[in-house]
Amino acid sequence: MLASLRRQRGLLRTAVSFFLLLSLSSCTLFDPWFSPSTDTSARIPAAVASAHPLATQAGLDILAAGGNAVDAAIAVAASLGVVEPYSAGIGGGGFWLLYDAGEDRYRFIDARETAPAAAHRDYYLDADGRVNRDRAINGPSAAGIPGQPAAFAHLSEHYGQLPLTQTLAAAIQQARDGFAVDEKYRSWLGFRLETLRRYPESARIFLQQNEIPAVGHIIRQPDLADTLTALARQGHAGFYQGPVAERLLTEVRRHGGDWSAADLADYRVIERQPLQVQYGELKVISAPPPSSGGIALIQMLNMLNHYTWQQLPAVPQTHLLTEVMRRAYRDRAEFLGDPDFTKVPVSMLLAEQRAADWVKSINMDSATPSLSLSGSKTHDGGFHTTHLSVIDHQGNMVSATLSINLPFGSAFTAAGTGVLLNNEMDDFSAKPGEPNAYGLVGNEANAIAPGKRPLSSMTPTIINSPQQAAILGTPGGSRIISMVFLGALEHLQGKPVEDWVSRPRFHHQYLPDRIEHEPDTFSADEQEALQALGHQLHNVGRDYGNMQAILWNKATNRVSAAADPRGLGHAEVKPLP
Ligand code: DON
Repeated sequence: MLASLRRQRGLLRTAVSFFLLLSLSSCTLFDPWFSPSTDTSARIPAAVASAHPLATQAGLDILAAGGNAVDAAIAVAASLGVVEPYSAGIGGGGFWLLYDAGEDRYRFIDARETAPAAAHRDYYLDADGRVNRDRAINGPSAAGIPGQPAAFAHLSEHYGQLPLTQTLAAAIQQARDGFAVDEKYRSWLGFRLETLRRYPESARIFLQQNEIPAVGHIIRQPDLADTLTALARQGHAGFYQGPVAERLLTEVRRHGGDWSAADLADYRVIERQPLQVQYGELKVISAPPPSSGGIALIQMLNMLNHYTWQQLPAVPQTHLLTEVMRRAYRDRAEFLGDPDFTKVPVSMLLAEQRAADWVKSINMDSATPSLSLSGSKTHDGGFHTTHLSVIDHQGNMVSATLSINLPFGSAFTAAGTGVLLNNEMDDFSAKPGEPNAYGLVGNEANAIAPGKRPLSSMTPTIINSPQQAAILGTPGGSRIISMVFLGALEHLQGKPVEDWVSRPRFHHQYLPDRIEHEPDTFSADEQEALQALGHQLHNVGRDYGNMQAILWNKATNRVSAAADPRGLGHAEVKPLP
């Protein structure tokens, strides 16, 4: 598939580069409207795609003020943490995939939360050996040590051009002045209302007289503004040490959590090698462990590479994609966890031999029952998280997926800090074989240990070639990987960026053994045909995901960007100055 795509692109490239040469020379030499920019190095239209218009604007403003893609991404992420408090924030963590155009180099910043030192394998088990689901998802006992503040400090110090006082300014103002409640806020809050009511500080900030606020109600977060200000002024220490840290510890402990001062003071982001796989001229760059996303995505592409899948009619194509997903998610379940704690056989999983072996077991005439593939059971899931994509005028790129896990995370806000804590500890497997919040199970590789990072599905991705660069990612728990896969396939078929984000979705994650799909993904006939192949279909009853994507067509130097129509997001291209 990728080979044929490459051939087409090769031809296109020759034609387009000739055109580009002509148009560039006419533009610089003869165009009377050409006005010199203040930014003389600007070469490429910039763009920001995020899940909220205010956050996208914060990023565009930073680009206009001379910030690079990393500065803009920090501004977007900080703003999302304020105006999308259900999705991500400084009480959570995430993964940042960066492309440095000057060095032609990719970096991956792992700002995943860590288990506190007090946590251990049986942390959530009651005396009778059963998982205490309440402690695993609600309140500070469910919270990992946040990574997001450390990510901001690290990114700004090493890869940004502007100080945090500037890049966090919009978020600080939005926290202080407030933002208006919208329908998404109300619906995500609906999932967590009872738990938010349990914690008076959360109820005070996020509810209106203990109820779901009306649309237009203003949510002000002055304590969060102060915490962000401390982070902006003092960097890492402004959050992980001193008054903010002390306050966090007191509140967490008062409400049943087990954090120590050292847990906070010792938190560090980890720079890891992103996964990079070359298919001819096309390079796929994605998240390494402790995300399962990049490995599963690349395994799926490797398997697909054995087929001319684009030419298949809808039903056989869906069947094939399903079988490919099933096998990648099966490997995910068996092998993946935090690489600093468990040996993850990355090369074996990404090897061509692995794909070839899996492909042998795919039958185009019938679904393979998951349990007939040996191996352990899968786990994972999640309801809310956020993704942002940025490209700047120099071609630097950021693809970042950020999370506090469930909507409104643990629902616990540490009084005096405005920090709403994550419940990312539920991404660990609390007990081998025991379902987590989503009815799914995990194994030893992802068991809890002090300082360990829970396995994630977040899949911030860049697909780069001499002709085009694509930046994409989405929230959606375990479905993140299949969404990024389907989005990437739209791109590989040459479809516009709007199609990547809006494509109807389906998903198979090995177990439960069924195709999960959005209500309108398949026609009645397609459903019947898939069932005849042996697939069980499960309509999830709602749309899912919130993909944010950017495409830079290098040949035309045109940038396009799109926000998932399922969300409230906004994508905007900033033309060359
Ligand atoms: O890291 C993970 O895989 C999950 N905590 C992500 C949760 C999520 O995407 C929820 N989204 N809707």
